[in-house]
Amino acid sequence: MSRLIIISNRLPITINREAGELHYHPSAGGLATGLNSLDDSYNKIWIGWPGVDVEDASEREEIRTDLAKRSLAPVFLTEREIDLYYEGFSNKSIWPHFHYFTEYTNYNDEMWEAYQEVNYKFFQETEKHIRDDDMVWVHDYQLMLLPALIREKFPKVSIGFFLHIPFPSYEVFRILPWREEILNGILGSDQIGFHTFGYMRHFLSAAYRIAGYEQKYGRLYIGEREVNVDVFPMGINYEKYAFPDVDAQSDQSSGEIRRLHASRKIILSVDRLDYTKGIPNRVRAFRQFIQKHPEYIGKVNLIMIVVPSRANVDQYQSLKQEVDVLVSQINSEYGTFDWMPVHYYYRSLNFAALTTLYKEADIALITPLRDGMNLVAKEYIAAKEESKTGVLILSEMAGAVHELNDGAITVNPQSNKDIQAALLEALEMEEDEQRRRMEIMQEKLKTYDVKYWAATFIKEQQNLKDRNYMASTTHLVGDPLTAVQESYQQAEKRLLFIDYDGTLMDFHVDPQAVSPDDEVISILEGLAADPRNTVVINSGRDKATLENWLGHLNVEMAAEHGVWMKEGGEWHLNPNVVGGWKPKVRELLENLVARTPGSFIEEKDYSLAWHYRNIDKDFGTKRVREFRDMLSYLIQNQDLQVLEGNKVVEIKNSGVNKGKATSHWVGKREWSFVLGIGDDATDEDIFNALPDWGVSIKVGAGRTAARYNLPGVAEVRKTFKSFLG
Ligand code: UDP
Ligand code: G6P
Repeated sequence: MSRLIIISNRLPITINREAGELHYHPSAGGLATGLNSLDDSYNKIWIGWPGVDVEDASEREEIRTDLAKRSLAPVFLTEREIDLYYEGFSNKSIWPHFHYFTEYTNYNDEMWEAYQEVNYKFFQETEKHIRDDDMVWVHDYQLMLLPALIREKFPKVSIGFFLHIPFPSYEVFRILPWREEILNGILGSDQIGFHTFGYMRHFLSAAYRIAGYEQKYGRLYIGEREVNVDVFPMGINYEKYAFPDVDAQSDQSSGEIRRLHASRKIILSVDRLDYTKGIPNRVRAFRQFIQKHPEYIGKVNLIMIVVPSRANVDQYQSLKQEVDVLVSQINSEYGTFDWMPVHYYYRSLNFAALTTLYKEADIALITPLRDGMNLVAKEYIAAKEESKTGVLILSEMAGAVHELNDGAITVNPQSNKDIQAALLEALEMEEDEQRRRMEIMQEKLKTYDVKYWAATFIKEQQNLKDRNYMASTTHLVGDPLTAVQESYQQAEKRLLFIDYDGTLMDFHVDPQAVSPDDEVISILEGLAADPRNTVVINSGRDKATLENWLGHLNVEMAAEHGVWMKEGGEWHLNPNVVGGWKPKVRELLENLVARTPGSFIEEKDYSLAWHYRNIDKDFGTKRVREFRDMLSYLIQNQDLQVLEGNKVVEIKNSGVNKGKATSHWVGKREWSFVLGIGDDATDEDIFNALPDWGVSIKVGAGRTAARYNLPGVAEVRKTFKSFLG
């Protein structure tokens, strides 16, 4: 069985110290309850904080031994770390920020330091357990630096990361001074999962805007790694809530709940005490509902289960006071001797009481202002498996709304009016309609349960691992490099096709700013000086630029993707080239530039290129699509083609490309060594035109026809230098 190492800040077991004794409890919160429902088809090890401050070494050992029996490994945090990393950076900076409560975000470097240190501490514990063929799954916002730390030490291990909270829009994310480190930390993973498409979109946008990584169908290419970014909405253990395995009769609170329900309608809310959950808004809306609908006085109860959480964080303390005041106001204002509008419990419930409440409640009122997913909503629906009656009122701002919006009444949690209207609709909803809605939601939750969630995440990660492992391109280092070097050294007639931009020189926003540096000149001089070598610079650049930069070297050249060829020191035009089309297309491009500030036209002898490397990628892509439509109309029946390179679109004669130029040289004589190297889509034509035994090298990541790959310009230069000895 393959091993799965789960790492989360909190273990599924939390230890409390009560009267000096240690007590083990199941942890609350979506992450722990969800993942803990995973079955045993994985050989799991779970690493995390046990939730208690333990300084004593022998006590730590005792806990470690106890937890090891359940395959749990503790990371002990000191008081200072709890203060600065857990309550600090995690819950005073990231939590509010990612939930759009930017006014609560702390910008504190000491907390950031502690966050880095504790992420490293988690790494040190992980290191003790990890093996190269393990799957690692890191969870949530407290450990966003951990994937990169693991990647650095274990480059081959497969790492997944799941964020259980929203990923905010780039405009919000970029405010964080540590945005780049956080992003790069997450990007150490092979697979990154979110609850909703919106969060995924925001993440990809941040990856592009901050680090320049472009996505293709949710895939990012980082060095040689392919990273899968995807949506995996977390489900619940449906059976557990649908058919709870508890003797609810024996639970005292369950009996009370039933008695209460006999005479009144129950509106239920269950959340941790958190400002993201919209608790005050909910109480206010309920108060106004009673005010406006006195006919419901004495007929409904709002039961609010508020689970204590992060009590040392200021905002949580003031929220507690706010809720206390609001509840006592409404109860004192509207309560009678035999009716209390709000039953407010500030504690956590055991499973029996919680499931009884779910079963008995006529309405679940779940109105977070922001919530990554919200599992309570799903648990409520599952608990109605037998009765099929009950209504869910769900905030538009909860991740769960994307799966439940065809059965729930959805509300904007900031709209008091919305919540009141939803309450009225829910209280008056016919049973048939309740049943219809319940069944729709239950069907989904049954299929997409927590096992499905974990299994699809792991399956996708496994597929990616296999794909990366089997990828036909071989990294050109070690033995493969030695083999290529040997065949080069032994060959007498060598032909080398070398692309320029992205291969010999890195990209620059100004294409004219990348004239060859001394190292490139010396490499090319070295290669050209060997009489056994024919060196061909095969580039999309115009002839004048290439001549200006490299014309003094003893190399041959193909310019403008094969429009011009320089052989034996003379330039000549490819005979397949036809002219006359340029003015019409230029006009179109000029119009495009006028509407797309920052883009520009490059005019070559027989082609036109539109560069958009300085503008927003999404904007550029939109323009390319528009432009392709117009162009296809304009160039009908003309022998033209549109080539898409790296943020450049080029229009040129068809039948002329880097591959045609390559074939021209390949066919000139017998060769004993042929090599082609390049970085973008136009270089694929070179690779395809090489003989079967040729050495094709793709620079950078991504799908390719090449046999080998190198990560970047620095490695290309190093490889050529190794040829020179
Ligand atoms: N929960 C619990 N005891 C309680 C109340 C709630 O264990 O007294 C559980 C609840 O069943 C749910 C989780 O806590 O699984 C809350 O998860 P949710 O996604 O709704 O919110 P989060 O706390 O993760 O923000
Ligand atoms: C949310 C977070 C979890 C966290 C839980 C409880 O669900 O996404 O990572 O464990 O809240 O919060 P706590 O601070 O008590 O761990």
